[in-house]
Amino acid sequence: MDGYIWPRFTFHVDFILVSIMLIVFCMIYRWWSSETIAVVTGANRGIGFEIAHQLASHGVTVVLTSRETAVGEEAVKVFQEGGLNVAFHQLDIVDPVSIQTFCDWIKETYGGLDILINNAGVNFNFGKDNSVEFSEMVIQVNYFGTKNMIKALTPLMRPSPAGSRIVSVTSRLGRLNSKRNGISNIAVREQLENVDLLSEEVIDKTMNTFLEQVKDGTWESGGWPHVFTDYSLSKLAVNAYTRLMARIFEERPEGEKIYVNCYCPGWVKTAMTGWAGHVTIEEAADTAVWLALLPDQFVSGKFFAERREINF
Ligand SMILES: NC(=O)c1ccc[n+]([C@@H]2O[C@H](COP(=O)([O-])OP(=O)(O)OC[C@H]3O[C@@H](n4cnc5c(N)ncnc54)[C@H](OP(=O)(O)O)[C@@H]3O)[C@@H](O)[C@H]2O)c1
Repeated sequence: MDGYIWPRFTFHVDFILVSIMLIVFCMIYRWWSSETIAVVTGANRGIGFEIAHQLASHGVTVVLTSRETAVGEEAVKVFQEGGLNVAFHQLDIVDPVSIQTFCDWIKETYGGLDILINNAGVNFNFGKDNSVEFSEMVIQVNYFGTKNMIKALTPLMRPSPAGSRIVSVTSRLGRLNSKRNGISNIAVREQLENVDLLSEEVIDKTMNTFLEQVKDGTWESGGWPHVFTDYSLSKLAVNAYTRLMARIFEERPEGEKIYVNCYCPGWVKTAMTGWAGHVTIEEAADTAVWLALLPDQFVSGKFFAERREINF
């Protein structure tokens, strides 16, 4: 008799134990579901398009945004035909009306969001060029536009035990202490380096100083990065803003945490590089998705490349 009861008993105990372990595993490693809302900016093409694809493939509901409605709707069709849960909304990250309309829509439609991927960006230099002709636009879109999105969407981040996530696509070109492309003005560098001294005013002032020097023709002696100066500075500013926001978000109560990080995707085959890069969009999107879906553990205010932390 015992011989029959024990195996059945152990089967039940094993089953329950395995089920509990599976539930715990899922809770730790898969905190998201189809109820999780991820917004990707500038996702009609390039790295943003692939980030949207990979996030949706993980089962997250993705809001693909694009400044041009027609191209955004075309991009979304590709995903929807493949059965992925991807919606579209117009969003120009430097247009206040567009941002407000988008915020109202996301609140009304989903009650908020859980993941923000700041991918939208511009660069007008190729190869050895270093023109500052479009520097106003580069700084506006890459830095002020990214900041606009963080400011507008932070109040709509939904509380959750795993925390909300912000990931910004930046660049190693924006490394503060790079020997080849850093800022040689020590006073400016020290202000941007020390997270306790860092403020939005300091970062804004640095960008505005550069733009004023562009206007009066003195920027070349300003001690700025030598390669793609406007672009590198815009990404350096987003990197600094990431560290600043991580410090500010640290004070949020448990259950309302927001983790904010940035990463460099490498030199990627997209329109931005004239398809000259050597990294595919699939490889480039990987670290963004990995950061966005990290299990519930505190990683914030860091800079990554290929899933590894690197120095600012
Ligand atoms: N490619 C690289 O090697 C590389 C390296 C390091 C970092 N990154 C960064 O990766 C991100 C994606 O770049 P990518 O290589 O995929 O370039 P991309 O193919 O040129 O894509 C850039 C995207 O940003 C959008 N965008 C530009 N201005 C916008 C605005 N004001 N509002 C909303 N969207 C806007 C573009 O929209 P439109 O189609 O309407 O122009 C496009 O969808 C950028 O932030 C870039 O700086 C790229």
